[in-house]
Amino acid sequence: MKIPRSAAATLLLWSTATATENPLTADKLEADIKTEELQNVLWNLNQIALTHGGNRAFGEPGFKASVDFVLERAQTRFHDQFDTFLQPFNHTYEKTRQIKVNGPAGEDVVVVSPQYNPATPLPGGVIAALVDTPVDDERGSGCFADQWEGVDATGKLALVKRGVCAVADKLKLAKAHGALGVIVYNQNPGNAIVVPTLGAENIGQLIPVGIIPLEVGQAWKTRVAAGESVKVTLLVDSIFETRETWNIIAETKQGDPDKVIMLGAHLDSVQEGAGINDDGSGSATLLELLTAVRRYNGFPHKIRFAWWGAEESGLVGSLYYTSKLSEAEADKIKYYFNYDMIGSPYPEYSIATNNNSGVGPQLLEEYLVAQGRQVEFGDFGSGSDFVGFVELGIPSTALHTGAGEPYDPCYHQACDNLNNIDWEALTVNAKAAARALARLATSLEGVGPRQKTSPSRRTRRGVAQSFRRWAAVAEEASHGHTCAHKGEKLVV
Ligand SMILES: *[C@@H]1O[C@H](CO)[C@@H](O)[C@H](O)[C@H]1NC(C)=O
Ligand SMILES: *[C@@H]1O[C@H](CO)[C@@H](O)[C@H](O)[C@H]1NC(C)=O
Ligand SMILES: [Zn+2]
Repeated sequence: MKIPRSAAATLLLWSTATATENPLTADKLEADIKTEELQNVLWNLNQIALTHGGNRAFGEPGFKASVDFVLERAQTRFHDQFDTFLQPFNHTYEKTRQIKVNGPAGEDVVVVSPQYNPATPLPGGVIAALVDTPVDDERGSGCFADQWEGVDATGKLALVKRGVCAVADKLKLAKAHGALGVIVYNQNPGNAIVVPTLGAENIGQLIPVGIIPLEVGQAWKTRVAAGESVKVTLLVDSIFETRETWNIIAETKQGDPDKVIMLGAHLDSVQEGAGINDDGSGSATLLELLTAVRRYNGFPHKIRFAWWGAEESGLVGSLYYTSKLSEAEADKIKYYFNYDMIGSPYPEYSIATNNNSGVGPQLLEEYLVAQGRQVEFGDFGSGSDFVGFVELGIPSTALHTGAGEPYDPCYHQACDNLNNIDWEALTVNAKAAARALARLATSLEGVGPRQKTSPSRRTRRGVAQSFRRWAAVAEEASHGHTCAHKGEKLVV
């Protein structure tokens, strides 16, 4: 449609006039958050996973499609209200494309591949006799050098029981004793085998492994003890390669660029599933807040939304963003809210804070308690994208509703789909987020300054120190990351 010049001018006047008449308030923003709209976004993210290989993970087409979905709103539809850009970065992508273990009669055995499992020669894999190792459930089997004394694994596949120490530690010792690969059998009975990680830091130092059920491992152990040569095939087809991925940053054109209220959620899922609670719930909340905020005017502070990439690989996107901020840019971020897993099917209402969180936690708590929710407080761990902001001393708060049993039994699994959301919990949390945002976007009362602990990053020594600090933070994150979970990531 073509608008005559005079009409366009009138339109412009009219829009500025109404804009000042519609100031942002907590009540209005809260009322704008609707369960149906959150459902609509999560339906779309679930559909993206369904049509892109079942996930929205870093390095996979489902993540790219998720980025396009957010951009369609932030950049295409609402470009008059927001400045949006993609921040690209690279990270090591890993995936086991195929894993196979065949027993002595050629039979297929149930097997899982840990993350960062190195490949065997292809296409045949490793075909070799098993060499047994002693079971030690107290210190862990195959965890210490003395437990390998007298084991000649040269040219063989070592048979080792799982448990106590990291699987990667067992693999290092097996490799040192000449093994071509390792068959680890589970410490618990049954075919439900939890997938551990070998850790990105061990790339290049390990040999291939297959993790099989306890029952199969024990049967093979008995046969080896009876003097039989038990020949087994292990095939691992895996890749490690650098892939590019993105953070999406969208901020209001309105508001003082020196006073920024920031909200973050991660847009990537794990490879195992669609990631609808983790963290479609937070991503949808941010998208609905962005959609609502565009209607208002008269808020003095800039609002910046971040959809992080590669969180599940160790908070990679958010740490990239925070490590690249200059001191001046970090100073401008007056507050950071993190929303990761806020619609768990059996929710707890957990708020992570530190002594520099100011009024943020109370703003969330007030609303949740008024809605009859019981709120728990805890310290920040290393489980989500707040880490980089907390490191920078930026006042921060994180809300989450729990990962794993009993809160979210589908955590990091294929069943983290549309059925894995408590819609009332998600709506209440999104409304709490709306109120807290509206309040801080209009007033910073009750928010302290950034706590600066590091020396100036402008000096050469300061730069080196800051580099070491960020490397340490990334290292810690890649080990300890469990997505708002209180425990440690499974390496054992
Ligand atoms: C990512 O890696 C590619 C290929 O090596 C390179 O061209 C690109 O500049 C890298 N991007 C960033 C943000 O470092
Ligand atoms: C928070 O704790 C740190 C370390 O214990 C201390 O240096 C800082 O002054 C405290 N900040 C506030 C606002 O109480
Ligand atoms: Zn998460």
